[in-house]
Amino acid sequence: MSSRRTRPWWRHGVVYQIYPRSFLDTDGDGVGDLEGIRSRLDYLTWLGVDALWLSPIFRSPMADFGYDVADYCDVDPLFGSRAGFDRLLAEAHGRGLRVLLDWVPNHTSDQHPWFVESRAARTSPKRDWYVWRDPRPDGGPPNGWSAAFPPGTPAWTFDAATAQYYLHLFLAAQPDLDWRNPAVMAAMEAVLRFWLDRGVDGFRVDVVHALGKDPAMPDEPPHLAGIPHAVLNEHPSTHGILRRLRRLVDDYPGDRMLVGEVWLLLARSHAEYYGDGDELHLVFDLPAAVQTPWDADAWRTRVATVEASHGATRWPTWVLSNHDGMRHRSRFGSEARARAAALMLLTLRGTPFLYAGEELGLEDAAIAPDEVRDPGGRDGCRAPIPWASGPCHGWPRADPWLPWPPDAEIRNVEAEHADPASMLHLYRRALHLRRATSALSEGTLTLEHGPPGTLVYERTSPDERRRVLVNFTDAPIATDARGRVVLASDGAGEGAEFAGTLAPDQAIVLAPA
Ligand code: GLC
Repeated sequence: MSSRRTRPWWRHGVVYQIYPRSFLDTDGDGVGDLEGIRSRLDYLTWLGVDALWLSPIFRSPMADFGYDVADYCDVDPLFGSRAGFDRLLAEAHGRGLRVLLDWVPNHTSDQHPWFVESRAARTSPKRDWYVWRDPRPDGGPPNGWSAAFPPGTPAWTFDAATAQYYLHLFLAAQPDLDWRNPAVMAAMEAVLRFWLDRGVDGFRVDVVHALGKDPAMPDEPPHLAGIPHAVLNEHPSTHGILRRLRRLVDDYPGDRMLVGEVWLLLARSHAEYYGDGDELHLVFDLPAAVQTPWDADAWRTRVATVEASHGATRWPTWVLSNHDGMRHRSRFGSEARARAAALMLLTLRGTPFLYAGEELGLEDAAIAPDEVRDPGGRDGCRAPIPWASGPCHGWPRADPWLPWPPDAEIRNVEAEHADPASMLHLYRRALHLRRATSALSEGTLTLEHGPPGTLVYERTSPDERRRVLVNFTDAPIATDARGRVVLASDGAGEGAEFAGTLAPDQAIVLAPA
């Protein structure tokens, strides 16, 4: 029996991240919505992904565009309604697409009723749902921790009415919950059940690394001062929280799952967040993923590190772009490199996460200072997805909430769909090849010794073997590899015997001759 039927979907599938504000607007307010996603499900099945992860859709004042939640059990009217979500979920499931929601457990909005109540009085029953501390004797904040944004600001805000500070690792509008409080755990378990009962397939878990906090709240050691959250990484209590969440999710039928955003700065290994198969199902290793430059040695080290830290039991993830950093097409600097990177992303051992728009080869939008909307300055990678040529690019209006990405006139779904040589078709072919080839979706990975400037690995399953070669340089490289080219990042030579020379910034997949 094919192991596709015995392995959970998240160990062979590909997840596609949607930033709902920027995917597609249908009601004309310039902001994407659930109906926009629903109307493009056929596109996503045509493309060949297995699951969607929606960045937060919950009720929110949008200080951090949804990562500040005011009601975890309702959909923000900007995006639609709960009924609209149920319809989207049912239609996605009808096409075999799974749906993951983005759950933000570290903090809420300051407008969440829990915080409103917590803030009301020191004696409030919910006071200790959040992290409140007295000022230092000089009136200053309890310690020197800084918030992630705006950069350089303290992680504490003084509440004059009750004369205490509250902790917020992000904006002052995002107060941190206190996960040592069992009532917080119980309330959040109810949130997860609410959505799991409705049928969602799991959650991307925001800011996992900061859930457990050292109650002593120690200051940053001097060499880490100024790095937001450095001391909050790897507090052991996080693992107990994750084990409990895992049990809850695993109690549901049908391979529900948790994938965690673990942003470690003092990391021994982010792979520890898999526990012994009893914590997160999948873990992002983001600093490494989004900071590895276009360089063969850097990627060989990266792949070797992931293989060593995960071993046979912890299934890795791979990600090149998301809503928090520069798109890899912009980072790597050329379409040829973005194509080769895509082929690598979809053939490494682990679950790939795509960020909507990378299949079009989108670059970050240039954002003028007066157009910046995000307190973290991450607007460029959040530009709206162009669906068509013409002034509105398939949206109801030409001026959505952020400017269009560069070259939207030619880099859009309609134009690339019509061009078999486009980036879009490369992604589609790579996704379909991966799905049809057990060596690529499930096989083991062995790093090989290729010529300098290349990354070469072999993927092997019981019945198949594929070799992937990537040229990270701008010169051709001769290799002694032989076989049949089943996929090439530039489309060259597919179906033919490999002549032995990799083109500049080219990646290929070889099958035995
Ligand atoms: C995560 C999200 C980011 C958000 C932050 C605070 O890092 O990916 O977009 O701003 O958490 O919730």
